Amino acid sequence: MRVCVTGGAGFIGSHLVDRLIALGHTVLVIDNLTTGVREFVNPKAAFIEMDVRDANIESIFADFKPQVVFHEAAQTMVPASMENPKMDCDVNLLGLVNILEASRKHKVEHFLMPSSAAVYGDLDTLPLTEDMIGKPTSFYGLTKLTGEGYLHIYEQAFGLKTVCFRYSNVYGPRQGDGGEGGVISIFTRLINEGQGLTIFGDGEQTRDFIYVDDVVEANIKAMNHPELTGVYNISTNTSTSVNKLVSYFKSISNKDLPVYYEAERTGDIRHSRLCNQKAKVDFDFLATVDLERGLRDTISYFKGK
Ligand SMILES: NC(=O)c1ccc[n+]([C@@H]2O[C@H](COP(=O)([O-])OP(=O)(O)OC[C@H]3O[C@@H](n4cnc5c(N)ncnc54)[C@H](O)[C@@H]3O)[C@@H](O)[C@H]2O)c1
Repeated sequence: MRVCVTGGAGFIGSHLVDRLIALGHTVLVIDNLTTGVREFVNPKAAFIEMDVRDANIESIFADFKPQVVFHEAAQTMVPASMENPKMDCDVNLLGLVNILEASRKHKVEHFLMPSSAAVYGDLDTLPLTEDMIGKPTSFYGLTKLTGEGYLHIYEQAFGLKTVCFRYSNVYGPRQGDGGEGGVISIFTRLINEGQGLTIFGDGEQTRDFIYVDDVVEANIKAMNHPELTGVYNISTNTSTSVNKLVSYFKSISNKDLPVYYEAERTGDIRHSRLCNQKAKVDFDFLATVDLERGLRDTISYFKGK
């Protein structure tokens, strides 16, 4: 298949590209390298350094003729969305519409995009299921939720088959410090540097952490179901508090580092756990990597850096 991955130089996108190449697909990566890293792009993939908002995207699609698009490129930081809502909206909505328009005009068969647990906001009925009406507490969550609406209308109005994945907190090798699942990559770096760990809030906030290989597997499985459309949680349906995460880090690294508590950040969610049943039933996806194994692999990757 001819597959275009926007954001393919980033954390999740680059792992997805590796897997697509290993499966024998022809892959084009479009990324402007704001947070992505050129060296992460698989050498067997074609690479174009370009912003997803660029008007030339259409001619790139005309030449490459992608059958499948994974639109991973985004502004991914909750705090940045609160500091600069205009920029967040520009990248996450105008960038998305630019890619959707090119996909519609050039007859893409399947369009798959990450949404986020941030669309749910602070709903207190857990686990969160796809049919719940979310109330985002950040502009990032709002642009992701609005993006889902764009996909829905592109499908209804133009017949473009679309899938939205509400990823929970993804972690693993190559993750940057800034994005949503960033707490694990930040703690890993601090531990490797022998520094103390800073927690925002009391540390009892919980997250549903999922390893990047599982997320890639979900994308591949969904791509192999060309009839698939709609919104899916991609998660483990487990809760881990940040304090518990710190205890895992201490035992895996064998280091007893100091922990500092600072004020909660605006827009942060208190608890998040996503039901994983819909993806299991519709395309047989279930995450398989447990947190301890995933953390060991992540810590050893960053140690080698
Ligand atoms: N990491 C998580 O826990 C998580 C959770 C939920 C959803 N997501 C979503 O998954 C996707 C990938 O996130 P990630 O964690 O790999 O982040 P990342 O920052 O590593 O990857 C994003 C990529 O998009 C590129 N990019 C950003 N703006 C661009 C633009 N205007 N034009 C072209 N390229 C641009 C960056 O250079 C980077 O390579 C994003 O859509 C994000 O919102 C991530």
